[in-house]
Amino acid sequence: MNTTDFHKAKAEHKKLSMVTCYDASFARLIDQTDIDLILIGDSASMVIHGESTTIPATIEWMAEHTRSVRNGTEKYIVSDMPFLSTRKGLEHAVDCAGRLLVAGANCVKIEGVFGQEEIIRHLVLSGIPVMSHLGLTPQFFQAFGGHKMQGKTEEAAEKIIEEAKKAEELGCCSIVLECIPAALAEKITQSVSIPTIGIGAGVNCDGQVLVLQDMLGMSGFKPRFVRQYLNGAELIKNALNQYASDVHTGEFPKADEIR
Ligand code: KIV
Repeated sequence: MNTTDFHKAKAEHKKLSMVTCYDASFARLIDQTDIDLILIGDSASMVIHGESTTIPATIEWMAEHTRSVRNGTEKYIVSDMPFLSTRKGLEHAVDCAGRLLVAGANCVKIEGVFGQEEIIRHLVLSGIPVMSHLGLTPQFFQAFGGHKMQGKTEEAAEKIIEEAKKAEELGCCSIVLECIPAALAEKITQSVSIPTIGIGAGVNCDGQVLVLQDMLGMSGFKPRFVRQYLNGAELIKNALNQYASDVHTGEFPKADEIR
């Protein structure tokens, strides 16, 4: 996968599978699978750092997670531009995006379009691929009054459609559509020539993205749009309890488990 493959994937009706990842150990596993794209989401703030929102994510965290993931995979990596990193002027945005690319990202993801047109255009023209993120953009949760589905009214839906068209016009390679009505996601998908990647936006997007720990059943977060492919929490807890028990009973280590 490279940036020019996004258009091709859409033209060939090839659906794109994307998961988040934040560290080298999971990146090594994902590298051995058919997953198309890896997202180093600012959801790292919640999933890895235990915060309640994505707001505390910093460019330092995002660059560290990006480097760690890059050390485990050769797959195409998209890294999130953290909260306000595109709102402090062009130079700051270029600096942040540059740090993510130096750390190993192939592309940066930016929440929202309006008010950031100049920055998106400048990054694209500077050779930094940009993925847009519309709908429920978690960095705006204060303005939205919580993590709520977006685009439910005609006016709100129209705004998201306009933003999607603008993202395409500015040269974005793809658009994440998060928690919007499926019919709206389908309309946007049909209105733009770049792939849409949905999360909680129905089946008619050009691809899907899930948070890795959610789909592996490790986060305890189970909204309707998450399909849990593994009960990771149970498997890991069972393994840890077995180990604790083996230590407590003297069952571990055995003679052949000593260096
Ligand atoms: O940060 C993240 O994980 C994301 C996905 C939920 C799309 O932006």
